[in-house]
Amino acid sequence: MSTTLTLDTLTITQPDDWHLHLRDGPALHHTVSDVARHFARAIVMPNLAPPVITTAQAADYRERILAARPKGNDWQPLMVLYLTDNTPADEIDRAINSGFIHAIKYYPAGATTNSDSGVTDIKKVYPVLERMQKCGLPLLLHGEVTDAHIDIFDREAVFIERTLNPLCVQFPGLKIVLEHITTAQSAQFVASGGENLAATITPQHLLYNRNDLLAGGIRPHNYCLPILKRSSHQQALIEAATSDSGQFFLGTDSAPHPQNKKENACGCAGCYSHHAAIELYAEAFDRAGALDKLDNFASHFGPSFYGLPVNQKKLTLRRAPWQLPATTQLGGDPMVPFYASETLQWAVVDGE
Ligand code: DOR
Ligand code: ZN
Repeated sequence: MSTTLTLDTLTITQPDDWHLHLRDGPALHHTVSDVARHFARAIVMPNLAPPVITTAQAADYRERILAARPKGNDWQPLMVLYLTDNTPADEIDRAINSGFIHAIKYYPAGATTNSDSGVTDIKKVYPVLERMQKCGLPLLLHGEVTDAHIDIFDREAVFIERTLNPLCVQFPGLKIVLEHITTAQSAQFVASGGENLAATITPQHLLYNRNDLLAGGIRPHNYCLPILKRSSHQQALIEAATSDSGQFFLGTDSAPHPQNKKENACGCAGCYSHHAAIELYAEAFDRAGALDKLDNFASHFGPSFYGLPVNQKKLTLRRAPWQLPATTQLGGDPMVPFYASETLQWAVVDGE
């Protein structure tokens, strides 16, 4: 679209992140500064403890986020409500009227970090989904079943069969994003759906597979949910991301946890990627020989799905290898970011 690509420089439209965890309190100082450096907007996940369930809570959270934004920066948080069994359909009207809520997030209860208040049976929220379908508010899915007896590597594929397929039949007009897809089944299901169905893809699922988590020793900093899958799935995701289909767009799922919560006998799920988010995607697209597809994936397909304008500013990257830090900060705690100490080939040189 508006890519300028030479051997050593790449200029794209300023990107947005359609799936991000900022956390709350002192952590906001780091997470908000990081995302605001290169990105224009981000869909902000509501899985705080307690979760962001109402429009009023989202308004307060948004103010705390904006207070942490660097002076003179105009990055925008796009707020999301956390769906529970008890969310009233009227909350959707309040969300729409707010002007700052752009989606509703469905966590199956118990699926991941702070999902205990999530939905126990999707049929319980059908009246809410009905209202969302009517007013065009997107539903964002953490697409994994939670049954203890289902293998962790199969939970996304089983979710498609049991929950997503029936949901698409029941609500053909509902806008749905299957978040952070990790399998060939998801890529294929989304590609075969209509324009109401889309998916986000993270940098870790493009750059890594489960060997990077488990082979030669457990690497807790590569543990996230849905868990990394085998390399054939990684390949399917790379193909989807670089396919130039408007149904696949950038969502980092950058999810910070302090170092001691990751390097732990029961470590937290989540990879922090906003120390180098667009550079990590550039790395993955470059390896696939598809740098010319990054602009659409990072900067055009997301706004088009959400019905928002494309950003005006540009961002330029240059082929200039640099080494990522071994640690960064999260509030007052040390944190090991994704791809720590590794070398990336592309660096941002200019964001107007
Ligand atoms: O790895 C993850 N971390 N997956 C999620 O779904 C949640 C996230 C978090 O909030 O830490
Ligand atoms: Zn997430």
